[in-house]
Amino acid sequence: MSYNRDKTITIVGCGGFIGSHLLERILDTTDFIVHGFDIDFRKINHLLGNERLDFHKTDMHDSSVFESVKKSGTVISLAALCNPSLYNTVPLEVIESNISGNLELLKACCDQKSRFIYFSTSEVYGRTVSSIAGEPGDSEKDLLREDSSPLIMGPVRVQRWSYAASKQIIERLIYAYGFEKGLDYTILRPFNFIGPRMDFIPGVDGEGIPRVLACFMDALLNNKPLKLVDGGVNRRCFTYIGDAIDAVMAVLGRPDDSRREIFNIGNPSNEITINDLACLMIKLYKEVRPEFSGKLYDIQKVSSVDFYGQGYEDSDRRLPDIRKACERLRWVPGTNLADSLRITIKAYVDQYGNRVSQK
Ligand code: UGA
Repeated sequence: MSYNRDKTITIVGCGGFIGSHLLERILDTTDFIVHGFDIDFRKINHLLGNERLDFHKTDMHDSSVFESVKKSGTVISLAALCNPSLYNTVPLEVIESNISGNLELLKACCDQKSRFIYFSTSEVYGRTVSSIAGEPGDSEKDLLREDSSPLIMGPVRVQRWSYAASKQIIERLIYAYGFEKGLDYTILRPFNFIGPRMDFIPGVDGEGIPRVLACFMDALLNNKPLKLVDGGVNRRCFTYIGDAIDAVMAVLGRPDDSRREIFNIGNPSNEITINDLACLMIKLYKEVRPEFSGKLYDIQKVSSVDFYGQGYEDSDRRLPDIRKACERLRWVPGTNLADSLRITIKAYVDQYGNRVSQK
């Protein structure tokens, strides 16, 4: 392969859910050469034969990553352990994997004058306290703004925030490298992206507790109760992966508009409580699989201690202000919640429908 630095991208974590969609889009719609790094390639098997992809099955500490940064005008970091069930059970792995790898990477980008695009998380807003807990409240007041909302981490003992705190420190380091050393960066804060190739189904292709979408799919596919942690009153804004990738492509295509900026990438119109999400997913699952339309699916309340163990806490509402992203990136997330869920549920059924039991 011959290299034009401006047309070469390094993607660390290209084999995960977001990485697989981003890689697919970049290879499909641009002429960039991509150096991709991941320890897992099951979600990108269909892309490995592409002649513009140079894939390395390795983690972000490998020296080949740093060789690749030298050749790349842009570096995108997606690697992270991002399931809440890990934050209070293996906090050291969560914190160290987030901090050490990304610190080395951003220093390398600074040295090599590469643009650094970092996937942070909506979780950096931390322990949100919306205007009226359990109620929609005053939406304008509850909007989370990239450049003015406080980032509220819970006590150190409450290890739920280990992930958010480590992401926050990397954001602060990136900002400081930009401020003192001129690092060219963009920080993205994803708000609950959903779509095909999301998390594993426990016992089929992974172990432990995935995020809520996959937990509910596991319940539906296996005819188990859908569990509502602490009553399912908390809210999330689920964002369709295709819309999210549109935003990332706009960041890539509009470097001047996104330089040294932080963007919320989320869909505030898709806000729902977890309780209502469970009901909607049952309804849509029956639509996708009419053969189960007469079936009763149970919904159970469970305490967070029983579900996640000690040290779990939650954000009650994560409502993104996306005005900056809409204006600067000329971006609008257009996929509504029902359509986003339909596509996601169908993808799970296609992938797992015949591999799990239906009692
Ligand atoms: C997680 C990650 O921590 C974030 O970094 C990431 O940005 C975010 O997902 C995301 O997907 O963007 P969270 O929204 O808390 O954050 O993740 P989920 O595990 O999907 O939980 C959402 C809500 O559902 C929480 O209130 C949780 O307690 C609840 N839940 C989860 C249930 O009620 N039942 C379940 O079976 C699973």
